[in-house]
Amino acid sequence: MEIRAETGDITLSAADAIVVNLFEGVTSPGGATGAVDRALDGAISRLIAQGDIRGKSGEITVVHTLGKIPSPRVVVAGLGRQQEFDVDAIRNLSANVVRALRRPGVKTVASIVHGAGIAGLPAAACAQAIAEGSLLGSYRFTTYKSAKEEENGEVETVVLLENNPSKAAEIVPAVARGVVMARATNLQRDLANEPANHLTPSALAGRARQVAEAAGLEFEALERADMERKGMGSLLSVAKGSAQPPKLLRIAYRGRTGGDGYDLALVGKGITFDTGGISIKPAAGMDAMKADMTGAAAVIAAMEGIAVLKPALNVVGIAPCTENMPGSAATRPGDVVTAMNGTTIEILNTDAEGRLVLADAVCWARELGAKRVVDIATLTGAVTTALGDVCYGIMTNNGELAAKVEAAAAAAGEKTWRLPMFKEYDELVKSDVADIKNTGTGNRGAGTIVGAKFIERFVGDTPWVHMDIAGVDIGDKDRGWVTKGATGYGVRSLINLALHLAE
Ligand code: BES
Ligand code: ZN
Ligand code: ZN
Repeated sequence: MEIRAETGDITLSAADAIVVNLFEGVTSPGGATGAVDRALDGAISRLIAQGDIRGKSGEITVVHTLGKIPSPRVVVAGLGRQQEFDVDAIRNLSANVVRALRRPGVKTVASIVHGAGIAGLPAAACAQAIAEGSLLGSYRFTTYKSAKEEENGEVETVVLLENNPSKAAEIVPAVARGVVMARATNLQRDLANEPANHLTPSALAGRARQVAEAAGLEFEALERADMERKGMGSLLSVAKGSAQPPKLLRIAYRGRTGGDGYDLALVGKGITFDTGGISIKPAAGMDAMKADMTGAAAVIAAMEGIAVLKPALNVVGIAPCTENMPGSAATRPGDVVTAMNGTTIEILNTDAEGRLVLADAVCWARELGAKRVVDIATLTGAVTTALGDVCYGIMTNNGELAAKVEAAAAAAGEKTWRLPMFKEYDELVKSDVADIKNTGTGNRGAGTIVGAKFIERFVGDTPWVHMDIAGVDIGDKDRGWVTKGATGYGVRSLINLALHLAE
């Protein structure tokens, strides 16, 4: 899909469909919607009076223009109540519109810049949200479909039309930024939707290398022998049960001159399939564990976005990638292993493997000179119990960095919720036989926090934020910018974080 911005009058557009909007409760439309209504001899006002168009959030009405204006279709998108309207609503609306227009004969769409008119929101933010929503909303994973399932086709071009030339000038770069954000998110979705027999750790490393090379980023993949030399016994303990070799990826972006190390390390959990290992998972729904590398995919995708947007800071992306399988060499419950920093770990449940691979990855990030560490992981089922699929959990040892992550996520339209890290929870990772253990005892709850408490043992005094995305990584249906399958949560948060830290 191509998205561009132009100066022009929407009523004169010859696109296959033009998109205008309406707030709930408005009976006589103004602005661009009013202009289109007049050109259609009051057709939109009449539909409002009849009760066919109410302007409710999520409402999409296609009106046929029957030759009265150059475009054959007008889409009236409901904005909902004006006092609840924001940029996030625009992103969702744009996603809903491109899906509603999946029909024969609609290839080109022209849209006004929702929000920049009567609502008075900043035009650049609105334009970016439309670009993101259009690209995110039209995403589908079709790699393994041999024939095109639907004849309806996809919208191929979205043109944002703005009458006012001075506003149009700020819209052009905003659209470009939105396109980068959404393409990165869709890259994450493509990786996370891949089945685990195709996307092995080696295949993921190959895809990451391609992305890095195309974006002009430094790339390195540590092999098992490298990890052994570095004493990464925690990561390696997860890989032992699999026939597939593990890979530890490093993708580096340098956006400032002078000073070494990295201002920010992004560390993503890359379990290409999580059977649970010897502590094997139940069969029902286990297929979802092909997406247990979503954190790694988010990091790879965010690095691509950062490379294009070029913030003035150094960022390293790290992804520990392995399968968690119950092979004959697999780690057993009760085994004790030693991580890169010398910490000994009693593995009580081999299904709590995410924290084990992140432990060594975080140690490596610090060895590489990371000043801040943000990890992203489908770490615990418990985060779904706590937060559902509405937001992801954030845990930290540094309130200032966490506030930055929260602001970056909010700017992306991703909701977050901070969970406490009281020192009392430290008890839950204490082991009788080693320094720490990888699960809580019995049923004392706080599973998501215990996961974070484990990782915290490896971050030392480096400012760190942990994002547990296990509740939001997969969508069960299309809903605004969130599409069925891998959702891409986290990617735009991470890119925004890098942009904000460089400001
Ligand atoms: N990959 C899972 C977490 C997960 C569950 C992600 C559901 C997405 C959906 C993780 O490795 C895991 O199995 N965690 C265990 C930890 C427990 C053994 C302490 C869990 O959440 O049950
Ligand atoms: Zn697991
Ligand atoms: Zn897992």
